[in-house]
Amino acid sequence: MKLMVVGGGGREHAIIKKLKENPAVEEIFALPGNGGIAADATCVAIGAKEIDKIVEFATANAIDYAVVAPDDPLVLGCVDALNSVGIPCFGPEAKAAIIEGSKVFSKDLMKKYGIPTAKYEVFTDLAAALTYLESAPIPTVVKADGLTLGKGVIIAMTRDEAKDAVRSMMEDKVFGESGSRVVIEEFLTGPEVSVLSFTDGKTVVPMISSMDHKRAHDNDEGLNTGGMGTIAPNPYYTPAVAAECMEKIFLPTVAAMNAEGRTFKGCLYFGLMITPNGPKVIEYNCRFGDPETQVVLPLLKTDLLTVMQAVTEGRLAEVNVEFAEDSACCVVMASDGYPQKYASGFEIKLPTETTANIFVAGAKIADGKLLTAGGRVLGVTETAPTLEGAIEKAYEAVKTVSFDNAYYRKDIGQRALAAKIAGN
Ligand code: AMP
Ligand code: GLY
Repeated sequence: MKLMVVGGGGREHAIIKKLKENPAVEEIFALPGNGGIAADATCVAIGAKEIDKIVEFATANAIDYAVVAPDDPLVLGCVDALNSVGIPCFGPEAKAAIIEGSKVFSKDLMKKYGIPTAKYEVFTDLAAALTYLESAPIPTVVKADGLTLGKGVIIAMTRDEAKDAVRSMMEDKVFGESGSRVVIEEFLTGPEVSVLSFTDGKTVVPMISSMDHKRAHDNDEGLNTGGMGTIAPNPYYTPAVAAECMEKIFLPTVAAMNAEGRTFKGCLYFGLMITPNGPKVIEYNCRFGDPETQVVLPLLKTDLLTVMQAVTEGRLAEVNVEFAEDSACCVVMASDGYPQKYASGFEIKLPTETTANIFVAGAKIADGKLLTAGGRVLGVTETAPTLEGAIEKAYEAVKTVSFDNAYYRKDIGQRALAAKIAGN
């Protein structure tokens, strides 16, 4: 089989490595991929948002099955376009991808169907938003409606901060049209859990839970990033919490999307907060999370392609999706300075022999050398029977990778370990 994976980050590298485990896979094309992915797939210089070129490439190269991984092409209708020329895909159609593409859509969906989430108001008018903020409970959370590369959420600790956030989104348009509508919502507290799930619109199969580490520095300090590391499973996701999420969140969300005529097929990501009043949805993503995928897929025992095709064909109920009982830890190695200014173009030295999975996110090949080319450069994942073991092995493996200007958090998994010790 000839496969195509749209995207070019660490998540796509993890998907590609897993797909390659199936002996029926002869070739995988990555559009655009990256210098590190090039070791596992044929990279093609077509951007993930160039839908027409993607379709043209897939047709010309007789692609048997495609995986569309990032949010932008999904929201732009990449799956619809590939399906229209007869290419089966993993990923939701645009009308279902809106669950991530519009926060107003997802909040209204949750309200309509009674799915637990933070209370909220929607504003299309700046003056009305500012008036509301005069008396809104503080802290408050301001969110741009559309896609913002994960930057459109401001936790405002004061009224002025909240007003500044609204002005920058609605007036200065820092996120373009994505900020022309804003959601202002209740500030929730509690540990966060990421649950990626496979769903074909009938069956929902949650994958092993995980915990992201979004802040740039140790002890969850510093700026928000795309994610500096992950562990799985997440100790806060106890069997009781899992059962409650299935009943009150996962099944109702899939049913709600069907009722709206927007059947979701693909990976539906539930960003949850375990509040004192039970689990609530912080966000939905219409795709695999990054860097959650880098800990979830290495623990998947079932063949990924088999599961994906079952999702596409509406036969997910027939597949027994199994995860290892082990734990995983992924430490992201970034360019120092990320998520702000950073230098790149430094040679990356990878170990020749390693048990670790090294998933490359931001690298290019020049003169036969692998060079850093992004904020997040790569993720180093290890698995072990215990979380402690996985963390220790991942940090050992990090020492075998080197590039100038490398930066990584030293405490990935420590909060989860402390929670485990405290009895979670
Ligand atoms: P998002 O981009 O939607 O994932 O939001 C980024 C982060 O902001 C989340 O991972 C949470 O840590 C935080 N966040 C979002 N919404 C809320 C909320 N209503 N209350 C507290 N924190 C939130
Ligand atoms: N790790 C969060 C996300 O993929 O959006």
